[in-house]
Amino acid sequence: EITCSTGDTVVIGLAADSGCGKSTFMRRLTSVFGGAAEPPKGGNPDSNTLISDTTTVICLDDYHSLDRTGRKEKGVTALDPRANDFDLMYEQVKAIKNGVAVEKPIYNHVTGLLDPPELIKPPKIFVIEGLHPMYDARVRELLDFSIYLDISNEVKFAWKIQRDMAERGHSLESIKASIEARKPDFDAYIDPQKQYADAVIEVLPTQLIPDDNEGKVLRVRLIMKEGVKYFNPVYLFDEGSTISWIPCGRKLTCSYPGIKFTYGPESYFGHEVSVLEMDGQFDRLDELIYVESHLSNISTKFYGEVTQQMLKHADFPGSNNGTGLFQTIVGLKIRDLFEQIVANRTAAPLQATKA
Ligand code: ADP
Ligand code: G6P
Repeated sequence: EITCSTGDTVVIGLAADSGCGKSTFMRRLTSVFGGAAEPPKGGNPDSNTLISDTTTVICLDDYHSLDRTGRKEKGVTALDPRANDFDLMYEQVKAIKNGVAVEKPIYNHVTGLLDPPELIKPPKIFVIEGLHPMYDARVRELLDFSIYLDISNEVKFAWKIQRDMAERGHSLESIKASIEARKPDFDAYIDPQKQYADAVIEVLPTQLIPDDNEGKVLRVRLIMKEGVKYFNPVYLFDEGSTISWIPCGRKLTCSYPGIKFTYGPESYFGHEVSVLEMDGQFDRLDELIYVESHLSNISTKFYGEVTQQMLKHADFPGSNNGTGLFQTIVGLKIRDLFEQIVANRTAAPLQATKA
């Protein structure tokens, strides 16, 4: 065991069903922190971990207590808490948060077996992503910030088809069946976690096209909890007002069905939240600067940083709509939160001396 100074690691939880854009989000997040995350060098090629200078991202599938065969035999899915070891998850996340390295198991997605563990050292920012980062109350307590990616069924279906049919050769019927089979456990164990999230990115079909069911044009909502330490929600024009904005016209090129932003206060699972919504998609990414200049509290370090990040990763899925935009903004908010926590820590001992 290696012990560093206590509590230097900031822990972020990212919850979503599989195939809902977690890895894309992680690539945007680590890019904001200044470096692409790579699999650990010289380790198990089937490791699910990603490491950059500042950030380590682990996949919570590694805490499966039942392997693929075990799940089949017991008749439980990977979403079922009984297939996951929350005691070990808690112990190891706590250790990392306290500056102690751990030997984390590896769930091999290729073989469906548990592989020998890998050493995880405490990073500056530790992201736990997967199905259950906010399920266990003890693990939840360790999170400095939490995000839930809430993809509506219609959109989830469209994305799954795109990936599993095009890239993995599955049939439409088998994709439908697997989504249906997961639904009860998803509703019971995954979905309820969104009530605990500090930020939720909700992805829905557009309302700009009547009866749209293609799932190509998206309405994306960034739901931000009020009163979270180190996190000031983003706003459009005027904080706390209710705004509806169609930016298309002289300064922004919009083809059918256009773009519509809304912003305002709402209530979410009994919490006061601010919601920023974007429906539609950008035709020209460089014109995003026009939208960016009307948003406040976006935690950029220079004018145009959101647009720069979006242009840099224009090839990532969702770059022309609210999913990419809000994932980028949440990445900047997390950088800001991290910097505030660090600054506060350095200031704290000084205050103690003064008192
Ligand atoms: P996860 O890590 O949660 O399994 P990925 O980031 O690998 O998800 O995304 C899975 C697939 O979903 C992608 O290959 C892509 O087809 C689709 N996808 C993800 N995010 C988006 C998005 N914002 N817009 C459109 N499609 C997306
Ligand atoms: C989810 C989990 C994976 C699991 C997959 C399929 O996506 O995140 O860990 O491998 O379900 O589960 P199965 O039991 O079919 O292998």
